[in-house]
Amino acid sequence: MVGVKNLLSGAWLLAYGAFSRSASTASGSHSAASPTSSGKYTQFTIPASAEAGAQLIANIDDPEAVDAQSVCPGYKASNVKESARGVTATLTLAGKPCNVYGTDVDSLDFSIEYLANDRLSVQIVPTYLDSSNYSWFMLDEHVVPRSISDRQASKQDSDLEIAWSNEPSFYFKVTRKATGDAIFDTTDSVLVFENQFVEFVTSLPKDYNLYGIGEHIQQLRLLNNLTLTLYASDISDPIDDNVYGSHPFYLDTRYYEVNDKGHHTLVASDKAAQSKDYVSFSHGVFSRNAHGQEVVMNPEGLKWRSLGGSIDLTFYSGPSQAGVTKNYQLSTIGLPALQQYFTFGFHQCRWGYNNWTELEEVVSNFEKFEIPLETIWSDIDYMHGYRDFDNDQHRYPYSDGEKFLDKLHSSGRHYIPIIDAAIYIPNPKNASDTYDTYTRGHQEDVFLKNPDGSEYIGAVWPGYTVFPDWHNPKTGDFWANEIVIWHKKVAIDGIWIDMNEVSSFCTGSCGSGNLRMNPTHPAFALPGEPGNVIYDYPEGFELSNKTEAASASAASFSQAATATTGGSTSSSTSYLRTTPTPGVRNINYPPYVINHDQDGHDLSSHAVSPNATHSDGVQEYDVHNLFGHQILNATYHALLKVDEKKRPFVIGRSTFAGSGKWAGHWGGDNASRWAYMFFSIPQALSFSLFGIPMFGVDACGFNGNTDEELCNRWMQLSAFFPFYRNHNTLSAISQEPYIWESVTAATKSAMKIRYAILPYFYTLFHEAHTTGSTVMRALAWEFPTDPSLAAVDTQFLLGPSIMVVPVLAPHATSVRGVFPGLKHGEVWYDWYTQTAVDAKPGVNTTIPAPLGHIPVFVRGGSVVPMQEPALTTKEARGTPWSLLVALGGSGTATGQLYLDDGESNAPDDTLDVTFSVKESSLSARAKGSWEELNPLATVTVLGVSTRPDAVKLNGIPVPASGVQYNATSRVLSVGGLQKLTRKGAFSADWALKW
Ligand code: GLC
Repeated sequence: MVGVKNLLSGAWLLAYGAFSRSASTASGSHSAASPTSSGKYTQFTIPASAEAGAQLIANIDDPEAVDAQSVCPGYKASNVKESARGVTATLTLAGKPCNVYGTDVDSLDFSIEYLANDRLSVQIVPTYLDSSNYSWFMLDEHVVPRSISDRQASKQDSDLEIAWSNEPSFYFKVTRKATGDAIFDTTDSVLVFENQFVEFVTSLPKDYNLYGIGEHIQQLRLLNNLTLTLYASDISDPIDDNVYGSHPFYLDTRYYEVNDKGHHTLVASDKAAQSKDYVSFSHGVFSRNAHGQEVVMNPEGLKWRSLGGSIDLTFYSGPSQAGVTKNYQLSTIGLPALQQYFTFGFHQCRWGYNNWTELEEVVSNFEKFEIPLETIWSDIDYMHGYRDFDNDQHRYPYSDGEKFLDKLHSSGRHYIPIIDAAIYIPNPKNASDTYDTYTRGHQEDVFLKNPDGSEYIGAVWPGYTVFPDWHNPKTGDFWANEIVIWHKKVAIDGIWIDMNEVSSFCTGSCGSGNLRMNPTHPAFALPGEPGNVIYDYPEGFELSNKTEAASASAASFSQAATATTGGSTSSSTSYLRTTPTPGVRNINYPPYVINHDQDGHDLSSHAVSPNATHSDGVQEYDVHNLFGHQILNATYHALLKVDEKKRPFVIGRSTFAGSGKWAGHWGGDNASRWAYMFFSIPQALSFSLFGIPMFGVDACGFNGNTDEELCNRWMQLSAFFPFYRNHNTLSAISQEPYIWESVTAATKSAMKIRYAILPYFYTLFHEAHTTGSTVMRALAWEFPTDPSLAAVDTQFLLGPSIMVVPVLAPHATSVRGVFPGLKHGEVWYDWYTQTAVDAKPGVNTTIPAPLGHIPVFVRGGSVVPMQEPALTTKEARGTPWSLLVALGGSGTATGQLYLDDGESNAPDDTLDVTFSVKESSLSARAKGSWEELNPLATVTVLGVSTRPDAVKLNGIPVPASGVQYNATSRVLSVGGLQKLTRKGAFSADWALKW
């Protein structure tokens, strides 16, 4: 996806000068800046060559790359000890070391542990961990905990069984007892365990249904013919390649036909007959490894490769997706952070809001057009020279900020700024160039180092930068202190963490010896600057906007023709192949290089290099994928130092397994294209599996210009994502929802639903926070007996009760969608008409969807708690309640509501309300001490087959004037309940009978 790469903020292809590469540490060779007669420094730009990757390093594309499976000897197990709770054995190299991409480890400890009856651990680690012959890295349990053990599980009671054998070489096989099916099977493969290359292979059933292994921009069900790389990369959402985060976890769902004797026969989801019923079993696999990894998916199974670490697999037996996901979070990575209520309001952001006045204008435009706005965001524009914790005093002075924020806060709104991972390092020769944050961090000695002990100096937006070293026990305090100090000047309500892969715009410690150069501009043109003017528009723009599209396309061609060609080395076909040196790791150029998507697959390209060194001696090579995770942890705890009582709100770009404990995530630098609007759905669903439910993407698209139609559809779609933010790149055309009349209307109509169902959203989040359940759900997860849903990712569910079927293509007036469960009596109601949908089981139904209309459906059997839509969540929380009751086929329904003050970390007062409907009676039972003072106004019941004679609340007749029944739509609407519930909708239990 070079086209996408070209578009981006971290866009590295707009090169000035040739790409060449020197050593990955200081070169000292830059020459350009010198003091002028006035003593000022001329502006110096780091040459693009400074971030060029090496020549192409041998990876899977290298025709001469050796297949480790064909040359390595594998292992033999001996010294086997079995107990009820597991097995231990020693694995010894079964032949001459192959040393194919590193040094073979001759002795390994193999262990199986039944952690719980639905959870099994398989671990393979070098026997002599302290041996000086090898250097490898064992993941710190404080940073990435191992799955916990309940200490009661046993082989006998486990859902899973594990067998192993030495013939022809060591392999193991995990079987699900209930089906007799192998869920993981390394038969016919060799285990390869070297100091820089670990590989294991499992076979999988034909046409397998695997999900997860992120972060990638891809469809929900993983393809079976591509390589998925896990290496945190600052790159603008290329399709299928590695991007910002690393989540070495997958869900595997299998469908079976069961005969009379209870025998299970596996069926491929796409071959399953519609008329039949199936059962499904899902399991999860977590590979606790943080190194650069590559999962090679092929039709027979997968090959999992890592550049180091150990094999530490946890199997979760489910057997439902929900069971797997909950177990994964509860036992291993942790539950997602509870969010403040306000965070579910709408967020407006862009790169290029130039000053407080512009922010104020945006806010007042939202007010003027009466579009809900909860939070206004600042990108790096507010910073003084792009420095964290330092406002530009001309454009974003603290004094004006205080006034702006006072007003914003008193309107119930919020403010969130970006904070980048890198810290500016000043030019020591320039006395006026001081930066307190750097000075304090330097004094505390909390920055990453070069191997020689000097500070590692890369380059990001501010110029030369250093990077916090999260292994240093003092760094968390340093970070928190900076945030506390800055918060006193700017009363922020949360933090947006960016560039935390951790990104650096030059290769190696390029600033070492060069600080006097004082670069003030990155090595590439920013969006909108000459050579990088944005002429891109969404697909289909040329049909709807012919003239504009033609002139944009001409301008784009001429820009491309006049661009100074730099060129990436990745076009080279001469490979750099590194021969392993016994016992010595080559971390800059590992002998095997994963299919990383930066220049030349070079791990040091566009990131802090593998040889950057942490305070405990650990090299970045071993922990690169954890930088993002650790800064999110530090930021979460820093916000607790600002206010220990409030739930921290953090949104981060680079995440790892478990980051959901501290932060939400946005989908990174997508493009204003229809394709990216589609990809936002599978990306969100994948993050549901990764335990990061607070997810959303840049609505209307980030890179490139959007257009009215795309923005219209996207503002509606994103309204059903937990994190709802419109964000735009520098210099692209404005895309706030008030820019086009049709987008304003479409946004308001979708927001009307979102703000009404905020209590439902919040309840789902609380459930996710306490049980690990998901918020955005794939159809296959809610309807596990229907194999035809296995790959559906063009529509989704919000919790169990709401289904969204968005239009994802230009110029459409309808959309096709399936209504799951119809065969089993499921009923779906159209949100807008409130009538039951007339559709056939398993058939793609055409749903009218003119521009401005997003099809939304309510599932029969649900009670959805709602309040009135408003311009802020605070206002919405002060309105009367209503309940939407969608009766299921049998006339029943259930629902939940959770309430608290919406912001406290450990609220003293909470309320749990359970709704249940049977025999024409809705009951509400509340537990807890939170006093909800707003009354109940309306109950709307969908699917009522006959006109009720009377409606009574706790036996008291509801005045007839409040009761309406429509025999055609079968909607019963009961209003005028305020008086009867004036002490609060849930202050006492009640039953409404019709
Ligand atoms: C990165 C972020 C993007 C932000 C830009 C400028 O590209 O992903 O959201 O606007 O940097 O800070």
